[in-house]
Amino acid sequence: MALRASGSGCRLLRAGRGGAFPLCPRGHCAGSSLDPALKAFLEENTEVTSRGSLTPEIQLRLLTPRCKFWWEKAGRWPHREPYWAVYWPGGQALSRYILDNPDVVRGKSILDLGSGCGATAIAAKMSGASRILANDIDPVAGVAITLNCELNQLDPVPILTQDILNLERGRWDLVVLGDMFYDADLADRLHQWLKDCCWTHRTRVLIGDPGRPQFSVHSIQHQLHKVVDYPLTESTRQDNNGLTTSSVWDFQP
Ligand SMILES: C[S@@+](CC[C@H](N)C(=O)[O-])C[C@H]1O[C@@H](n2cnc3c(N)ncnc32)[C@H](O)[C@@H]1O
Repeated sequence: MALRASGSGCRLLRAGRGGAFPLCPRGHCAGSSLDPALKAFLEENTEVTSRGSLTPEIQLRLLTPRCKFWWEKAGRWPHREPYWAVYWPGGQALSRYILDNPDVVRGKSILDLGSGCGATAIAAKMSGASRILANDIDPVAGVAITLNCELNQLDPVPILTQDILNLERGRWDLVVLGDMFYDADLADRLHQWLKDCCWTHRTRVLIGDPGRPQFSVHSIQHQLHKVVDYPLTESTRQDNNGLTTSSVWDFQP
């Protein structure tokens, strides 16, 4: 994975380490079946914060410099790299846009693809979406999303931990993707899958991205219309060297 939250130096996200947690063997997580030991591990090793992002109204459990694993070598983390433990600039922009424009999701079915910490799914729920699926291939992200829903006094959203890009395209009013274009192969797979979704079901697609190279040079650019730019907060800038804004794009193939 060619993605780094590098500025302030979370060491876990600097080197890859494989490994999967067998929490959701069939690819589905439900809030009611949270593994108590994993839940306790995440609660002990994350900090609840609402500071420093574009959406201070959403609280999240994240890895911060106050957490011991922030400073640990990657090999010490017992699960796969915790991408869910960072609130990425693309997801921040998308969530801000949804909270400020609730009509975009109100009464609609929403898929948050690559949900990570779940902030964009949470923003959609807060804004009145009628049906939400948070999808992330990391089962630990599924647990974090459920904990983050609880933190924001929301019922847990359904979570799918299978790779949805290998499944038949579902019928969604809106698919949202925050910071998912960080790898060239994944970008190609997403592009094709999203095109099929739009053509088959007339699904709307919104993408949040801070100008990552794999996104800016991808052929998807010819099918995008910019919706809004947001200046990043100082702390997000520090954690994402060189990035200063994050944008929401409407995909119109
Ligand atoms: C950079 S993070 C973005 C998380 C969140 N959307 C945000 O903006 O904060 C990318 C996430 O995509 C997930 N991911 C990677 N490939 C995926 C796939 N094929 N399907 C679903 N999730 C995937 C990773 O596990 C990770 O949590």
